[in-house]
Amino acid sequence: MRIVLGCDHGGYPAKESVISFLENNNIKVTDCGTDGLSSVDYPDFAKKVCKEILSGRADLGILICGTGIGMSIAANKYKGIRAAVVYDEFTAKACKEHNNANILCLGSRVLDNDKIIKLIGIWLNSVYEGGRHDKRLEKITEIENREL
Ligand code: RB5
Repeated sequence: MRIVLGCDHGGYPAKESVISFLENNNIKVTDCGTDGLSSVDYPDFAKKVCKEILSGRADLGILICGTGIGMSIAANKYKGIRAAVVYDEFTAKACKEHNNANILCLGSRVLDNDKIIKLIGIWLNSVYEGGRHDKRLEKITEIENREL
């Protein structure tokens, strides 16, 4: 399992504990930054993370900003990305089981580090259910490929 991680200054406070958690679970981590609390623009980091996934160099991605919202809006502009903002255990599980989210977006200003790690663990341990959800994901792909 290879995970690519990106954050802005709002998400930076959670970064080191997330990397430690992933590496302690034998997950290979690609760190796309940012590397400090200086103000940066979250779309730049969403872009780096999406490129790693869409090129096949990473299996899944994690994006952390202040709320998770900006990161998810930016990441979902890419075809093939299904980025989910989650705030609790139920949504962390459902976004994999139902939506097959390939990026988890989290907010460091709304969740403490322990909760962020807990939600990442739930997402990683959940499995896409397929079945009735397949045709819904296919419809999302159709929207991505639409003319209008
Ligand atoms: C940065 O101040 C903040 O806007 C960003 O981290 C994020 O919350 C955006 O959605």
